[in-house]
Amino acid sequence: MSATAETRQGPAGAALGPLARPTRTAMRWAVRHGLPAVYLSRSARRGDPVGRLMRDRALREQPYETYEQVRARGPLSPSSLGWVTTAHPVAQEVLRSEQFGVGWDRSAAPKVIRWALEFGDDPGAAGVAEPPSMLVVDPPDHTRFRRLVSRAFTPRATAAFEPAIRRTADALLDDLERREATVDLIGTYAAQLPVLVIAELLGVPTERREDFLRWGAAAAATLDPGLPLRRYLAAERALRAMHGFLDEHFARLRRDPGEDLVSRLVTLPPEEALTDRELHATVLLLLGAGFETTVNLLGNAVVLLDAHRDQWDGLRADPAGWDGAVEEVLRLDSPVQLTGRTAKADVQLGGRTVRAGTRVTLLLGAANRDPDVFPDPSRFDVTRANAREHLAFSGGIHYCVGAGLARLEGVVGLRALSERFPELRVAGTPERRDLQTLRGFERLPVTLR
Ligand code: HEM
Repeated sequence: MSATAETRQGPAGAALGPLARPTRTAMRWAVRHGLPAVYLSRSARRGDPVGRLMRDRALREQPYETYEQVRARGPLSPSSLGWVTTAHPVAQEVLRSEQFGVGWDRSAAPKVIRWALEFGDDPGAAGVAEPPSMLVVDPPDHTRFRRLVSRAFTPRATAAFEPAIRRTADALLDDLERREATVDLIGTYAAQLPVLVIAELLGVPTERREDFLRWGAAAAATLDPGLPLRRYLAAERALRAMHGFLDEHFARLRRDPGEDLVSRLVTLPPEEALTDRELHATVLLLLGAGFETTVNLLGNAVVLLDAHRDQWDGLRADPAGWDGAVEEVLRLDSPVQLTGRTAKADVQLGGRTVRAGTRVTLLLGAANRDPDVFPDPSRFDVTRANAREHLAFSGGIHYCVGAGLARLEGVVGLRALSERFPELRVAGTPERRDLQTLRGFERLPVTLR
């Protein structure tokens, strides 16, 4: 790790000395995960379905029945995570409304929590769900960050990436040809394709991809509340390594900029330039979001299509159907299952009054199965006419900036796989990742021929 990352300053300007760091880490874990874990476990014991989803791994692996129990309580119901909704129109309204934001008012928190958050703050270990990551900041900062990155994701810029995606997929499939008949499709293909694509987009050396995958897998858990200490420590180590890598990467691109997005971000004119912390947050998010989600789309798709073999065969016969198939996978088994917003003022929503400062949890994976929007919602049908109405990429101002790229990787990656290995079958039991916010597979054994 670089010296810069080791000594990066805290908000109060205090260098993170060797003794302060473990104390800060413990503080960060306690307020972000330890206390929420106790609270969620207590709610789960009292029968709160959301608390149970968060605390019970078996339920998390198969969340859809629990989502129906939440749905039965109405479009908006109280839960251990504030208000919760499974209703597509309510979730969409919240995402699009200016009366909701992603930030929350720390001044409303008890003094001890505010102090712990301030003391535990450590930019060298910051994750993608911590400000100033654009995912969790409101305008005007959000507008500033988003404008800087969205130029790299216009439809034209995304389409220009198609040959590179195809080339990358083909090279990975060539490697697979040389392997045994049974492989783990996540490790050999579904994770490799997105990480190679985002590495190219961000100008980072593809030789480091195994490092990114390892770091990303550990750090993805920080999106979830209530992590056990051991997993939190692993995530923090991974985040420090990523920030250290980014320091070196930024220094290299400042000396020798290329045509990529990060080169542009590190050489912005002074009036537009990002602070060091903003730059780290923005690129860390792009890197992590770029592969930690798309891997799940590819893996979930293969498992669904294996279970619906007629549809796999239909797509092979008519590849024009892949666009619809990708939308249906995103809808039925969404790679991002939930998000949340905080009311900025008292708001009328779903027949209830949501008070200012209150959190609303949006179960995107459940909204995508709202029977009022998607008839027979648990049926997998790659020809479903309105599958694209799903909220798998969220909505409103935080709508996924990489949605076009993810769709393209899905269509190109799955089509290439089906053409090269038409007889591919899932072999054995796929293993889910132990995550709450993201949904996908850790291991997916398949026979290729
Ligand atoms: C199947 C793949 C993907 C899925 C399901 C997905 C899903 C999402 C969702 C749900 C959000 C918004 C969360 C919220 O509203 O709180 C989001 C935001 C974001 N995604 Fe994606 N994503 C995917 C792929 C990508 C890719 C390939 C990139 C590329 C670089 C990317 C970059 C981002 C960024 C930067 C944001 C933050 C946008 C903002 O806050 O304005 N995502 N994504």
